[in-house]
Amino acid sequence: MADAQDILSSRLSTVASLIPASDLVIDVGSDHGKLGAWCLSNEICPRLIATDIHEAPAKRTESFLRLCGFSEVSQAVCTDGLTGIEIVDRTTVVIAGMGGLEIRKILSDYLEMHEKFPLDTTLVLQPQRSFYELRTFLQENSIEIEKEAIVLDRGHYYVVIRAKMSEKVHKLTDAELFLGPYILSAKPERFEEYMEHQRKLMEKQALGDSRCKAVVENWEALL
Ligand SMILES: C[S@@+](CC[C@H](N)C(=O)[O-])C[C@H]1O[C@@H](n2cnc3c(N)ncnc32)[C@H](O)[C@@H]1O
Repeated sequence: MADAQDILSSRLSTVASLIPASDLVIDVGSDHGKLGAWCLSNEICPRLIATDIHEAPAKRTESFLRLCGFSEVSQAVCTDGLTGIEIVDRTTVVIAGMGGLEIRKILSDYLEMHEKFPLDTTLVLQPQRSFYELRTFLQENSIEIEKEAIVLDRGHYYVVIRAKMSEKVHKLTDAELFLGPYILSAKPERFEEYMEHQRKLMEKQALGDSRCKAVVENWEALL
């Protein structure tokens, strides 16, 4: 049996660190299955569903979970996003390593079918890009960001977002939509270096984006 401990990259370790104790974890876009195996191995959840849109990664995930001894408590499904998957009470849905627009599409496809997520659903999202669009979507659908983390992995900065359904969602500013409401208020580990990195990227983006330009012009107020 493979040992599911110590198998995660720094990026995936940070994703894992934001997953609360859950009755079910659904890892959408599981690819290798390591995150799900880690969750089961660390008793974050008694049951796991891993989905992948492609057959090969879905099979790879199934094999890895079997190798780790988790066949009985896990299911690897080849499907698009959450299609055909049931979210039960105290479910955490993880979508990591995809573009923000792809993550938005997976969540909006689910909402089109089900109207809303159960109130105690947690989303742990790690978009590679399009943070503004994804955070806007969360806000528009009464999904409140409660925590964010920054991680540097092999020279790249990644942001992980944890969000929950909410009766009332705070209206986010453009700066918060681009950079993260929790990141700007709590200034988590790596805040300064992340802000310096984002500033350079956003200065370029500001040339064709007036919302971005306004944020960059008031940068000092964010620090
Ligand atoms: C870059 S990998 C990320 C894997 C893993 N989540 C991680 O963070 O290391 C993206 C995976 O998502 C899968 N994927 C892409 N779009 C998907 C969708 N709509 N539904 C399910 N899986 C998807 C791909 O096949 C691929 O295995």
